[in-house]
Amino acid sequence: MPLKNTQIVSAAQTKFGSLDMSLREMFAEAVDKATVEAGVPKSEIQAAFVGTFIPEMLVHQGHTAPLLLDYAGLRGLPATRHEAACASGATALRAGIMAIESGFYDTVLVAGAEKMTSVTTNEATEALAAAADDQFESSVGLTFPGVFAIAAVAHMQKYGTTEEDMARVSVKAHKNASTNPLAQFQKEITLEKAMTPRYVAWPLKLFDCSPISDGAAALVLTSTEKAKQYTDDSVSVIGTGQASASMNLADRRELTSFEASVVASKNAYKMAGLSADDMDFAVVHDCFTIAEIIASEDIGFFEPGKGAEAVKEGVTALDGDRPINPMGGLKAVGHPVGATGVKQASVVYKEIIGAAGPNQIAKHDTGIMHNFGGTGASCVVNIFRRSDA
Ligand code: COA
Repeated sequence: MPLKNTQIVSAAQTKFGSLDMSLREMFAEAVDKATVEAGVPKSEIQAAFVGTFIPEMLVHQGHTAPLLLDYAGLRGLPATRHEAACASGATALRAGIMAIESGFYDTVLVAGAEKMTSVTTNEATEALAAAADDQFESSVGLTFPGVFAIAAVAHMQKYGTTEEDMARVSVKAHKNASTNPLAQFQKEITLEKAMTPRYVAWPLKLFDCSPISDGAAALVLTSTEKAKQYTDDSVSVIGTGQASASMNLADRRELTSFEASVVASKNAYKMAGLSADDMDFAVVHDCFTIAEIIASEDIGFFEPGKGAEAVKEGVTALDGDRPINPMGGLKAVGHPVGATGVKQASVVYKEIIGAAGPNQIAKHDTGIMHNFGGTGASCVVNIFRRSDA
């Protein structure tokens, strides 16, 4: 049965990039934009669900939920942190969805943040590696570019995907982000530039990787009844799915598909009573270009092995039949890990209500977001629809 009671009434993000702001300052900015500036008084918020991944390692700060809430002017509310590596933001969102859908609360804040440029790239890489299996993987040198390089090689061997195919995902991401003022990279790149052989982990090059970023995002969820108080333009959450998988890649049956993505999306479609064909667009977790290709197959937009061809033919472009990551994705907008899942929901919200400016896609009633964590051991998929659709 589709969910009936949960609406997004506002959503916002800070600019992503290397910001001269602390974790709490970014969080407070995103919260202010999603509450007071959007016409939702802070006094109406009843609880908060917060996504942060590794602030202990990046800014030496744990117990982030009460700290961030306090700084954002929401002292005293129930505040809980959710951690699922790069899917932390979407697990916070799912908890908020369950809190509203059950009727426990009627107005909640969901927010995520990460401050990553406080450390060097090497230190960030080591911190991010905590999302892999330490006993069998990270302690012997496997980093995230390495994990996705393994997936890329498997995809190349099984389906004939090429480095150029992956580079096209990057060109599309940078093109879409060039008109997104909140993106870390706002410049288009050519295919030749994306193919510059600066290898990070073969076959992945600089332009196949999402960057190290700072940023925060926030949104307000309300019950359907309450939404009318704030806006005529709310977006319904109609399906949600979450799944987990083995952390250790060696325990996977398949490296060209992420099982948690397949299961989470099937469950979300089932709950919404819809299929991939009913989706107008998708926002997927493109931490590396190969991850977007695989995600587009895992959520059922394309047959296994056909994702790269769809990019080549322009199907996933802003003006294509099935746009993917219309604002620029993690690749070009940035990937402050704890904020990403909330930011993805904010992108879907803006596209659905028709507020995406130059990045507005033509057919935008129903959208899906896919946020996964670590080596794909956690995945959350949510489906949203225009409330009056
Ligand atoms: N895409 C495009 N350009 C990038 C970039 C990226 N991902 N990362 C950095 N750059 C640019 C910088 O803007 C800078 O440009 P400039 O010289 O014009 O100012 C230049 O490349 C060098 O930047 P620098 O920060 O020194 O790069 P780096 O070598 O330290 O880091 C990566 C590059 C790819 C290694 C780093 O961004 C990375 O580790 N990304 C993956 C993050 C990750 O694993 N996230 C979790 C996913 S699950």
